[in-house]
Amino acid sequence: MSGQVSDKPGAAAGKQVGVGLIGFGTIGRGVVKVLRENAAVIEKRLGFPLRMVRIADLDTKTDRGIPLDGIQFDADAKGLIADPRVDIVIELIGGYDVPRRLILESIAAGKHVTTANKALLALHGKEIFAAAAKAGLDVGFEASVCGGIPLLRALREGLAANQIESVFGILNGTTNFVLTQMEATGEPFESVLKRAQDLGYAEADPTFDVEGIDAAHKLALLATMAFGAELTFKEIPTQGIRGLLPIDFEQAAEFGYRIKLLGVARSHKLGGQSGGQADGREQLEVHVRPTMIPASSLLAKVDGAMNAVVVRGNAVGPTLYYGAGAGEMPTASAVVSDLMEIAREIARGGRGPVSPMSFLAEHIAPMPFVAEEELVGRAYLRMLAKDQPGVLGRITTALGAEGVGIASVVQRGQAGAEGGAVPVIVLTHPTRRAGLARAIARLAKLGDLVGDVRVLEIEEGV
Ligand code: HSE
Repeated sequence: MSGQVSDKPGAAAGKQVGVGLIGFGTIGRGVVKVLRENAAVIEKRLGFPLRMVRIADLDTKTDRGIPLDGIQFDADAKGLIADPRVDIVIELIGGYDVPRRLILESIAAGKHVTTANKALLALHGKEIFAAAAKAGLDVGFEASVCGGIPLLRALREGLAANQIESVFGILNGTTNFVLTQMEATGEPFESVLKRAQDLGYAEADPTFDVEGIDAAHKLALLATMAFGAELTFKEIPTQGIRGLLPIDFEQAAEFGYRIKLLGVARSHKLGGQSGGQADGREQLEVHVRPTMIPASSLLAKVDGAMNAVVVRGNAVGPTLYYGAGAGEMPTASAVVSDLMEIAREIARGGRGPVSPMSFLAEHIAPMPFVAEEELVGRAYLRMLAKDQPGVLGRITTALGAEGVGIASVVQRGQAGAEGGAVPVIVLTHPTRRAGLARAIARLAKLGDLVGDVRVLEIEEGV
C-alpha cells in the first residue's frame, strides 16, 4: 500500500486524532464509554489521545445516559463528515443504502472509516475497500464479525504466514443461545425463541439470526480473509435453526454430539487424495447449517450467546478464538481497536502495509466451490414412520440400496399419539451426500413415512 502523508498537522505531529460517530445507538454509546473510561490506557498505548469530537444521529432527544461534555451532538451527518476536526468516521447506523452512501462520502472527504456493519460489507465490501484503497484511507471492520473477538486481526496479521486450511465458527450468539436453551430445557424452538426475545438476546424480527443469514454475512468475510476467495453471502448454502426438535438434542447427546449453528469454510486441495501431492488446485467448501459436532470438541462447549471460531493454519495448526460476539462494550472494544490502529497510521503519516481483507485486492478472486453432493460425512436422519410391520427393515434396505451405511437405528416411543407414527432416528456411517440424497428420495417413495426426513450433517473434524 502506498504511503500517503496526512495533511492534518495535529495528527501528523501525533498530538491528537479526532473521531466522529454516525449512529448513536447501543454500540455508539459503548464507544463513547470506552473512549472515556479507557482514555488513559489508550493514550499510553498510542502516545496521544483519541478524542470523540462529534456525534450525529437523527434522534437527538433520547437521553443515552452518559455525559457528552466537549462532544458536538446533532443530526448533521454531512456536517460531521466535512468537519476538519474529524479524522475517522465511525459508521454505526446499520442497514445497507444509507451507510454505504455515508461511508463513500466519508472516503471522498478524505476520512478514514470504521464500521460494525457486516451486512453492508458482505454486500458492498468490494466497492468500499476499492474506494478507500484508491484514496489511501483505511476501513476498519473488526467489530463486524464476532463483536469483541479480535478474529479479523488474527487472520490478517497473527496468522498471515499460514495457508489457512479451515474456519469453523459459532458466529451467531442469538442462535447459540436458543440452541443451548433448547438442549438444556427440552423446550420447543418457538417458546425458547420467545424467551430469548424477552431477555433481549433475540431481535423482535429474528429472521437474520434464526435463518443463518447473519452467520453467512460473517462467514463470507472470513472466507475472503482466510482464502482470498471473492464471494458474497448469497453464494453460501445457508440453513437456519427452525425445525429442530427437542428429540434432536436428546439423540445428539446419546450419540455423543451437540448441535451448533456452524459456519464452515474449508479448503479442499485437489490431486492429493490418493496419497499424492496436491496439484495446486483448490476448491472451497462453505456453508452455514445446524450441525452435530462431537460433544468433546472445544466448540461444543461454547454455550449461551457466546461466539467461538477455530481457524486451522498449515503452519500453526488449530487456533481458537472465543468471546462475546455482540453487546455494547464488547463490540465497542473492537470498534475502538480499529480507531487506534487507524490513529497510528495517521500519526505515522501513511497507511500501513496490511491489506484490510488480508490478501491484496488483486489476489482476491472467485474460487470454485466444492459441489455439496461430493462432500462425505456422517449424517443424522430423523423421520416419522408409520408403525407397521417391517417398517424398520424397509427403511434400512432403502438406505443400503444407495450405499448408505448405518451406524445406529433408534425407534422412539410408542405409536398412538401421532396417528400411529413413531420417530425413527438413523445415524449413518460416512457417506457421500449424493448417495444420501438418493436414499432419502427412495425413503419418500416407500409410503412408510409421515412428512419429510430431517437431515443434520455431522462434522467430526471440528
Ligand atoms: N445478532 C447477532 C448475533 C449480533 O446474535 O450474533 C452480532 O452480529
